Amino acid sequence: MATPNGRKLLEVDHLVMHYKTKKGDVSAIEDVSFSLAQGESLGLVGESGCGKTSVAMSLMRLAADNARYLNGEIRLDGEDLLALSEEAMRKRRWKSIAMVFQGAMNSWNPVYTVGDQIEEAIDLHIEPRPTEKQIRERMSRLFEMVGLNPAMLDRYPHEFSGGMRQRAVIAMALSCDPRLIIADEPTTALDVIVQDQILKELKKIQEKLGMTLIYISHDIAVIAEVTDTIGVMYAGKLVEYGSTLEVFHRPKHPYSYLLLSSTPSITGPRRKLAPLEGEPANLLDPPSGCRFHPRCPFATEICVTDEPPLEDKVPGHKAACWHSDRVPVTIGVAV
Ligand SMILES: Nc1ncnc2c1ncn2[C@@H]1O[C@H](COP(=O)(O)OP(=O)(O)O)[C@@H](O)[C@H]1O
Ligand SMILES: [Mg+2]
Repeated sequence: MATPNGRKLLEVDHLVMHYKTKKGDVSAIEDVSFSLAQGESLGLVGESGCGKTSVAMSLMRLAADNARYLNGEIRLDGEDLLALSEEAMRKRRWKSIAMVFQGAMNSWNPVYTVGDQIEEAIDLHIEPRPTEKQIRERMSRLFEMVGLNPAMLDRYPHEFSGGMRQRAVIAMALSCDPRLIIADEPTTALDVIVQDQILKELKKIQEKLGMTLIYISHDIAVIAEVTDTIGVMYAGKLVEYGSTLEVFHRPKHPYSYLLLSSTPSITGPRRKLAPLEGEPANLLDPPSGCRFHPRCPFATEICVTDEPPLEDKVPGHKAACWHSDRVPVTIGVAV
C-alpha cells in the first residue's frame, strides 16, 4: 500500500556511508537502495559486520560521530531525513521511526521501575502530554500486546527474565505509535523457544497495527518468520532483494544460497550443512568487482573486475550477481 500521494513510506535511495578512521574509510553502506510501503515488513540479513546496524542507525540518524554520508537520501513520507536539522529529527525519532536497539534488553536502568522508564519516553515525545491515567492505560495496553502482565509495570528490571525484558523493550519502542519500527537483532540473546514466541508476537502486532517493520538478524531462518520481503547484505552492499518465499526457494545470489544452505532446517529433513567458507570482507579495503568474489564458488574473471548491478532477475526479485543462473534452488529449508 502506497501513501495517498503514491509515495512509499520509506525510500532509501543510493545511500553511501563511510566511517572515517585512522586506518582509512570503512565502507559500511555502499549504494544501498530499497523502499517500504506502509504495513510492509522487510528483513535485513547478513553476517556480522556487513552493515545492518549501520543502515538502521542511519534511518534513526543516530550513527556514530565518525559516520559520513557521501551520497543518497533517506526519505520518510517524502522528507529527506539526512537533510533535517537535529531538532527536526528529534521530533520524528520515536514518533515516526522507533528502534529496538541491538542489546537493548540489557540497558534498562536498574534503579527505576520499567513502567517509569517507559513513561519517561512517552513524556518526552508525545505532545500535548497525556494525563497520568491515559499514560497508565496506554502502557497497560502495550504490555498486554507484547504478552506481559500490566502489573509488571511497577517492577524493576531485575525482576524480569531476559525474554520479558526484551518484550518490555518492544513495548517501549511502540509507546509513541511509530509508523516505522526497526528491530535490530531483538531475539539474538534469547533461547530458541522464547525467541520463537517473541517473533510470533511481533508478527501479530505488526499485522494488527499495520505497522511498517524492518527486522534485522544474522539468522535468515528467523527473518523468514516475520517478514514479507528479504534484503540480503554482504560487505556493505545489498546483494539480493525479493519476497521472502522467492529468496528462500529460488535465491539468485550465491551468498544467499550459502546462507540458506548453512542454516539448519527446523522442520525439514536432516541435511548435511554446507559451511560458508572464508572470511568476511575487509571494509577498509573491500575486494574489487563483486565484493563476494573471493568466497564465491561460481566466480569468474568478470566478478573480479566488474561490479554487478542489483537488478531484476525475475520481476520484483533483484540480485547483484553475474552468474545468478548458476545458483541452485534450495531444497528442504523450512520457511
Ligand atoms: N563507529 C565506527 N567506526 C568505524 N567502523 C565502524 C563503526 N561502527 C561500525 N563499524 C564497522 O562498520 C561495519 C558494519 O558494522 P555494522 O553496521 O555494525 O554491521 P552489522 O550490524 O551487520 O554487524 C563493520 O565492519 C564494523 O566494524
Ligand atoms: Mg548489528
